[in-house]
Amino acid sequence: MGEVATRATGAAARPRGASVALRGVDLYRFFHDGDAETLALRGVSVQVAAGEWVAVVGASGSGKSTLLNCLAGLDEPDGGHVDLLGRRLTRRPEAERARQRAAGIGILMQSHNLLPSLSLIDNLRLASALCGRGDRHHARRLLEQLGLGERGQARPAQLSGGEVARAGLAVALVASPPVLLADEPTGEVDAATEQQVFEVLRAQRAAGTAILVATHSEALAAQADRVLRMQDGRIGDD
Ligand SMILES: Nc1ncnc2c1ncn2[C@@H]1O[C@H](COP(=O)(O)OP(=O)(O)OP(=O)(O)O)[C@@H](O)[C@H]1O
Ligand SMILES: [Mg+2]
Repeated sequence: MGEVATRATGAAARPRGASVALRGVDLYRFFHDGDAETLALRGVSVQVAAGEWVAVVGASGSGKSTLLNCLAGLDEPDGGHVDLLGRRLTRRPEAERARQRAAGIGILMQSHNLLPSLSLIDNLRLASALCGRGDRHHARRLLEQLGLGERGQARPAQLSGGEVARAGLAVALVASPPVLLADEPTGEVDAATEQQVFEVLRAQRAAGTAILVATHSEALAAQADRVLRMQDGRIGDD
C-alpha cells in the first residue's frame, strides 16, 4: 500500500483530520419536469477532512449522486455553497470551477468516467496530463493495485462492468488528488476484488486524501471513518 501513500504530495505530513478539505453547507437541489418537482437535496451539510474517509449511504434516489455532483462543482446547487481546499467552488464561472476541480478533486461518477476511444492506460495518461501531475509509472502501479495490470491496452468497451468501475477509480486517483469523490466504486465487483479497492482507498486515506464515497455496499461503508445516511434528500449522522 506504500505506493499510493508515498505518491500523494506532502500528504504524509498532514495530521489526520486536521484540516477540512471539502465542505458543503446547507445544499439544496431541485429538479423540475413540467409540474413535477423533485427535491433531491434539502439542506445537506457535509465536510470531509484531509485523511478522512466518509461514506454516504441511502436508498436509490435518496440524493447521493446529486450531492456528489454538487460537491464536485459539476452541478450548481440551488441553495447553499461548497468550499474546496478553503476556496469557494459554487457560483464561480465554469472555467474557474474546472480549474479548481482539476487541481483538487479526483472524481469517479456512476458512469462515463472513461473515454471510449482510448485504451485504459491512455485514459490514465490523459487524466494525469490534464491535471499536470502523476507519471506513467504511477499509472501502471495503480492499474496493478486494482487488478487491472494486464488490461492497460484494452479499450473500455472490452472491459467487464467491474473492470470499468475500477478503471474509473484509477483515472480518478492517477493525479494523487487531495480530495476523492467516488460514486459506487465497488459496483459490480466480487468480494475479493472489493478488498483490492478497499486496500487502494485505505492507502489513499493514509496518504492524507479526503475521501467521500457514495455506496450501497455495507462492506464498503464499514471501512469508512464515518457513515452519513441519506433519506429523501436529507442527511443524518450514524
Ligand atoms: N438531472 C436530473 N433531472 C431530474 N431529476 C433528477 C436528476 N438527477 C437526479 N434526479 C432525481 O433526484 C433524485 C435523487 O437522485 P440521485 O441520482 O441523487 O439518487 P442516488 O441516491 O444517487 O440513487 P442511486 O443509489 O440509484 O444512484 C431522484 O429522485 C432522481 O430521479
Ligand atoms: Mg447515484
